[in-house]
Amino acid sequence: MPRMKDERLIVGSDTSDDAAVYKLNEETALVQTVDFFTPVVDDPYTFGQIAAANSLSDVYAMGGQPLVAMNIVCFPDCLKLEVLEQILKGGADKAIEAGALLVGGHSVKDEEPKYGLSVTGIVHPEKVLVNSTARVGDYLILTKPLGLGILNTAIKADMASKDQYDAAVKTMVTLNKYALEALDGLNISSCTDVTGFGFLGHAHEMAEGSEVSLEIYSDRIPIIEGAEGFAGMGIIPEGAYSNKNHVGGDIEVEEGVEEVILDLLYDPQTSGGLLVAIDKNDVEKALESLSANTDNEFAVVGQVISKGEKAIYIKK
Ligand code: CO
Ligand code: CO
Repeated sequence: MPRMKDERLIVGSDTSDDAAVYKLNEETALVQTVDFFTPVVDDPYTFGQIAAANSLSDVYAMGGQPLVAMNIVCFPDCLKLEVLEQILKGGADKAIEAGALLVGGHSVKDEEPKYGLSVTGIVHPEKVLVNSTARVGDYLILTKPLGLGILNTAIKADMASKDQYDAAVKTMVTLNKYALEALDGLNISSCTDVTGFGFLGHAHEMAEGSEVSLEIYSDRIPIIEGAEGFAGMGIIPEGAYSNKNHVGGDIEVEEGVEEVILDLLYDPQTSGGLLVAIDKNDVEKALESLSANTDNEFAVVGQVISKGEKAIYIKK
């Protein structure tokens, strides 16, 4: 893709960030993002909610507030229109919860259904959170548990229990709005959301862009219930292997780190949580505020260290 250069473009595509940010004036910058994918669950309303929460997340990952959104739909002839209606209702309900207006969209005929949103938000130009400015000494907080790709694979294979399904869905439909609000005003140096490239893929982008290394505590990773068991059975999505191929060479794993934890760290997430680097003096406040404002699992999962030979060091 040709590089775009403009003094008003605060965040472009160079740093693989979550969304583009364009400065309109001293108070306001536009946040622009688009995302869509194939169904992760059978229920169309739930799929709509998940896809929308995932699309909106990239605005939150920039520290922004979504304002307007548009549907992107691919839909086959052979499915009933009520299915599409349910998908769009799920998306609209999430947009409303986000405080954004769903104002239109575009659909094309396609063999496999696909859904997502193009979202426009705003952020104060000085409060933009990017993925390439992590500060040495800061701690890393992850605001949702890992294992969603693994659980979705188990759900597709009809291996997950009702409770496991419910827990996965609840995690995926949760807007990252609440985590961002919980962290408002705290000293955050960098932020991204954990999605398709998995925890380590997105953490790697943060390390590279920030010219630092990250130390990850493998025994502190929040894990969605059931995911560890399925990973141990080899129920691991294809994407986890491509994530590992992509960044594995730049990651050092201490002896004794459990294999299933590594699988979880490479597992591609759908509508995953925020990964933030935060000043160590604000960690306690952040954890208190996250427990008051969110109801999924979160944890301090590592620390930013000065740039070493590898981008990421996974500790026992
Ligand atoms: Co993102
Ligand atoms: Co995205």
